[in-house]
Amino acid sequence: SSPTMLRLLLLLCGALGCGAQAPLAFTMLQWTRVSKGISVFWGNATLGGRLSHLLEGRNVTQVLPLEPLAAWERRRDAVGNYLTSFSELVWFFSKERAVMIPYTQSLCCRLGCYLFPNGTARSFYEVSLNGTAFLTFHVPTATWERRWPGRDAVASFAQQELTKYPQTTHDLQHFLNTTCVDILRAQSTETGPRSRAPLVLGLTLGVLAVVGMAGGIFLCTGGSC
Ligand SMILES: *[C@@H]1O[C@H](CO)[C@@H](O)[C@H](O)[C@H]1NC(C)=O
Ligand SMILES: *[C@@H]1O[C@H](CO)[C@@H](O)[C@H](O)[C@H]1NC(C)=O
Ligand SMILES: *[C@@H]1O[C@H](CO)[C@@H](O)[C@H](O)[C@H]1NC(C)=O
Ligand SMILES: *[C@@H]1O[C@H](CO)[C@@H](O)[C@H](O)[C@H]1NC(C)=O
Ligand SMILES: *[C@@H]1O[C@H](CO)[C@@H](O)[C@H](O)[C@H]1NC(C)=O
Repeated sequence: SSPTMLRLLLLLCGALGCGAQAPLAFTMLQWTRVSKGISVFWGNATLGGRLSHLLEGRNVTQVLPLEPLAAWERRRDAVGNYLTSFSELVWFFSKERAVMIPYTQSLCCRLGCYLFPNGTARSFYEVSLNGTAFLTFHVPTATWERRWPGRDAVASFAQQELTKYPQTTHDLQHFLNTTCVDILRAQSTETGPRSRAPLVLGLTLGVLAVVGMAGGIFLCTGGSC
């Protein structure tokens, strides 16, 4: 039967050391829930399976001591400021269109990179809206691609908004393709302490991207695009 087959395969896998073939990963998750103009944030980051950062409300905490305290405090404040700006922008849109947007939107960003045992790396940035794939970032070309199945105007507008910031897409590409992978390479070879300063850049940029997107979603669902 297939369960027996599966057990055999797993045994074989264990014997051949398939487990060791698992890629090393750095992953960041960030949820933004907007309801009646109020934004709620939550997120975490994982490095090699261990929790490295936690985002609760507008507070981001460094769980693994990856950055020296002074540098971390500056970064933490920068993230807090982005989240505050985002909340204010959403509140502004909601006031503008109070009658039109009494509903809830749920955005989720997932970004990071994998390093495979053969030295190959892969990076990703996926955004979903209400649990449905919304946009993905194509790292080689630094472009946003639409994934949203229906109501294409919403995703198109968000994509247009995000594309307005070439510095952001360039930084994002650099973070995902280079910084993120460097962190994993350093981790995999354990070359000792090194600056992991750009770690949180991804989180910050994730938020920036969402700011543009929020504008798109609110404008479009308000019926003006
Ligand atoms: C990060 O959050 C996700 C979703 O809630 C959860 O499944 C995962 O276990 C968390 N990661 C860690 C390392 O706590
Ligand atoms: C965030 O940090 C502030 C000040 O440090 C604290 O008062 C607040 O309770 C924290 N909020 C959460 C959700 O952890
Ligand atoms: C997301 O879901 C809420 C209901 O939970 C709905 O009101 C809203 O219109 C949805 N957003 C989009 C863009 O479809
Ligand atoms: C390295 O491994 C990954 C995952 O198994 C695979 O997708 C990729 O094609 C491999 N690359 C090379 C150059 O062998
Ligand atoms: C991504 O990284 C690879 C390997 O380091 C490099 O060869 C490639 O040029 C980079 N691509 C971009 C778009 O930065």
